[in-house]
Amino acid sequence: MKYQSQKVALGFFAVALALFAVQVTLGLVLGWIYVEPNFLSGLVPFNIARMLHTNSLIVWLLLGFFGSAYYLVPEEAEREIYSTKLAWLQLAIFVLGTAGVVVTYLFNLFDGNWLLGNEGREFLEQPRWVKAGIVVAALIFLYNISMTVLSGKKTAITNILLTGLWGLALLFLFAFVNPENLGLDKMYWWYVVHLWVEGTWELVMASILAFLMLKLTGVDREVVEKWLYIIAALALFSGILGTGHHYYWIGTPGYWQWIGSVFSSLEVAPFFSMMAFAFVMVWKGRRDHPNKAALLWSLGCATLAFFGAGVWGFLHTLHGVNYYTHGTQITAAHGHLAFYGAYVCLNLALMSYALPHLRGRDPYNQVLNMASFWLMSGGVVFMTFVLTFAGTVQTHLQRVMGMSYMEVQDQLWIFYAMRFGAGVAVVLGAVLFIWAMAFPSREIIEPGQVPAE
Ligand code: HEM
Ligand code: HEM
Ligand SMILES: [Fe+2]
Repeated sequence: MKYQSQKVALGFFAVALALFAVQVTLGLVLGWIYVEPNFLSGLVPFNIARMLHTNSLIVWLLLGFFGSAYYLVPEEAEREIYSTKLAWLQLAIFVLGTAGVVVTYLFNLFDGNWLLGNEGREFLEQPRWVKAGIVVAALIFLYNISMTVLSGKKTAITNILLTGLWGLALLFLFAFVNPENLGLDKMYWWYVVHLWVEGTWELVMASILAFLMLKLTGVDREVVEKWLYIIAALALFSGILGTGHHYYWIGTPGYWQWIGSVFSSLEVAPFFSMMAFAFVMVWKGRRDHPNKAALLWSLGCATLAFFGAGVWGFLHTLHGVNYYTHGTQITAAHGHLAFYGAYVCLNLALMSYALPHLRGRDPYNQVLNMASFWLMSGGVVFMTFVLTFAGTVQTHLQRVMGMSYMEVQDQLWIFYAMRFGAGVAVVLGAVLFIWAMAFPSREIIEPGQVPAE
């Protein structure tokens, strides 16, 4: 660790990993409810567990991004973070908001209350006071990180990272726009949900991946930067109008069927480029970096994001196909592999790289860490396959043959049982990862000895 202030990243990573554990455990609960529908129905009903599963996912991924920025920006800008106090304050606001959300959802408090009750829009269910807290915390973060960059060295990596982070915070403001009209409500809802994962978060992904490649492969900065600008341009060019793939059936004008189909097909390009980028850098790189686990997570991230977002996204993005597959298990298959490949793996890659530095050690528990990669990724990939089969059967029986929703669900039992099995592997993988990160082997670097770059 070159800069003392980078240590705040540790706090963000710790809270993120705790929420990650909560998220996958709730996934397992949801998976079991699909097999045994009355499981916990009195205590934690499906809808509540689902909100907690998806919301904790988003919050821990965001905390991971913030922690990554606090780690990475000092390295790039070559100076300490503007204010570590502000960073801790930001984390405290997030922890408070998260606790508020959990209590509100679990005990179903303040139902219907304008300020305190949950808002009921998938991913954006948080009560308004929590949303306001998120905005305040995001502003503190942006101020802190922008001040750091402005007074230090500006690089392509920090430029793209900051563009992504500012963009995602500004788009979150649309979470407050919730018109009565359901079509309009959905329109603005996708400004947040789609323009996050297929726009601004992609910029965050590209820049963090670029940082990791720079450090792990030793390729020249100029080369990394060229790729980074191309990927960022591709992401925005395709992703913004790609929003159209959610405007097929919500009452928006018919031209969206073509705009959505064409531009969202192009969205494969940035994900393909990120995969090509990662492999070309490793292939060209001269450095034999000791942190093999961070490299594995980075390559895994680029590859699984290409399959989850690129291939599984394209699978159902043409409006002629989406007419049949909309809202089936195909969507869930894609949602899981895309979120996992792109953003879960990205965070775990950066943590694998950064934590040894932050704790003043050489890369530790490499074998355990890599085992967790294979177990967790194997689990998510298997889950994606079984859900894709389930979705194909569901699409045919329900949308082609016209069977009723519940009748079809009865037919899918076997896939849901297998999905639960896959979920067990994912949870075990997550436990292994957290173990590998939290409990380093004993040796500590001697004073004066330089940790591996
Ligand atoms: C890191 C891993 C995981 C990620 C990134 C993730 C992500 C998500 C996302 C984004 C959704 C909303 C999907 C949609 O609306 O299409 C969701 C729902 C769900 N997840 Fe996960 N999840 C993960 C792990 C798990 C695990 C381990 C299980 C357990 C088997 C699981 C089971 C479920 C279930 C049953 C739903 C509800 C689907 C529905 O409403 O039909 N997830 N998850
Ligand atoms: C990392 C990037 C991505 C993530 C995390 C992601 C995640 C998701 C999630 C969670 C949903 C379900 C939303 C809901 O209805 O609740 C969804 C829907 C969808 N995604 Fe993605 N996605 C990504 C990239 C892509 C790409 C690149 C494409 C196209 C090539 C795509 C095509 C679609 C389509 C067409 C739907 C609507 C499915 C339906 O009609 O039910 N996605 N995505
Ligand atoms: Fe989308």
